[in-house]
Amino acid sequence: MNERVLASRDPVQFSSNVDVLKPSATLGFAARARELKATGKSIVDLTAGELAFPTPEYASQAGIRAIEEGRTKYPPTPGIPELRSAAAAYLEETTAHAPADPSRILISAGVKQALFNCLYCLFGPGDEILVPTPTWPTYETAVALTGATPVLVPTSWEDGFLVSVEALESARSDRTRGLVINSPSNPTGAVYPAELVEELVHWCGRHGVWLLSDEIYRRLSYTGSAAPSVYDVEDRPEHVILLDGVSKAFAMTGWRIGFAEGPVEIIRKASDLQSQTTSGAAVPSQYAATAALSRTEEREAAVAEFVRVLDRNRRLGCEVLNGIPSIEVRLPEGGIYLFAKVTDDRPSARIAEELLEAGVACLPGEPFGSPGYLRLNFAVDEESLREGLDRVSRYLEGI
Ligand SMILES: Cc1ncc(COP(=O)(O)O)c(C=O)c1O
Repeated sequence: MNERVLASRDPVQFSSNVDVLKPSATLGFAARARELKATGKSIVDLTAGELAFPTPEYASQAGIRAIEEGRTKYPPTPGIPELRSAAAAYLEETTAHAPADPSRILISAGVKQALFNCLYCLFGPGDEILVPTPTWPTYETAVALTGATPVLVPTSWEDGFLVSVEALESARSDRTRGLVINSPSNPTGAVYPAELVEELVHWCGRHGVWLLSDEIYRRLSYTGSAAPSVYDVEDRPEHVILLDGVSKAFAMTGWRIGFAEGPVEIIRKASDLQSQTTSGAAVPSQYAATAALSRTEEREAAVAEFVRVLDRNRRLGCEVLNGIPSIEVRLPEGGIYLFAKVTDDRPSARIAEELLEAGVACLPGEPFGSPGYLRLNFAVDEESLREGLDRVSRYLEGI
């Protein structure tokens, strides 16, 4: 055997850049569910972070038209002007005090990329970024990849998973430079009340802390109106960045369009970063997202229909799960997840593994920083939801 063949079998020496890199646990579990399905096993998949429903036709058609018209070349890095304007106008229409300035908008390949761009431009080694838990796991890893330190601030079932200013105050140090919030929350479904959002905005302002508010589930709220936004706060200081997109409220996860809205200086820097990584988001997708956000009547009808179906599903999910003696779940006020508390001697990670064997895929609380819980997506068709929950009941009740 020659030396080259041996060398190729050595493990790759990765750089220290990726020491903190954890693959997405949620996508990992979903991939296992898909693998099992491919072997012919019947699996109801409740792991997904997306709506199982099709993208509204009016948005898809705009994407198709863009391809047919040959709009398939590089975009301006921060996004096509039509979409930057549509996103700015959308925020102006759906919040109380958004600035409606397209130059404050950066279009990226999903909220994930917009978030990473902003984090990377603002934070680095020595900085501490507060992340309330339970949390979408990406915040912790994305912060760590910038070299900054994520500081987890626990919330609890008892306080409705709402972070308090007191909890933030005790986690704050002279290195605290950022706070990432997410309302409605993935995974808990908690919606921050308007007074809390206002308190957090002002607390960040007082302490020179950047507030990144991930509002990707804002329109998927079951309280009768959109969840309170940082842009509903009137005297908002200039260190707030709002993250939103079309992935969830318009069932467009695969189109990969999200945006950041914030001070022009940051948006420019984040766009410079994007110019050296992806050159911007896919152009046909940008046209589809432009339609999704700007065709007001169709937009509101599409969101209202999703909210109607999801509202029914969340009620159904709660009713069934609360009928299982070892489970307790609260009606989520927003988002697409049931976050169920499990009273069982086994760790939730093991229960999730066993549930997968029993034919239903859901996520354990561990990757979200909250062992003892299961996260189940209720944004699936009613029949799948009923069947999935039935499998959970039968397994946990030992039937
Ligand atoms: C809280 C939260 N933010 C952002 C995202 C990702 O959004 P996008 O698909 O637009 O990157 C997700 C997806 O699961 C999410 O749950």
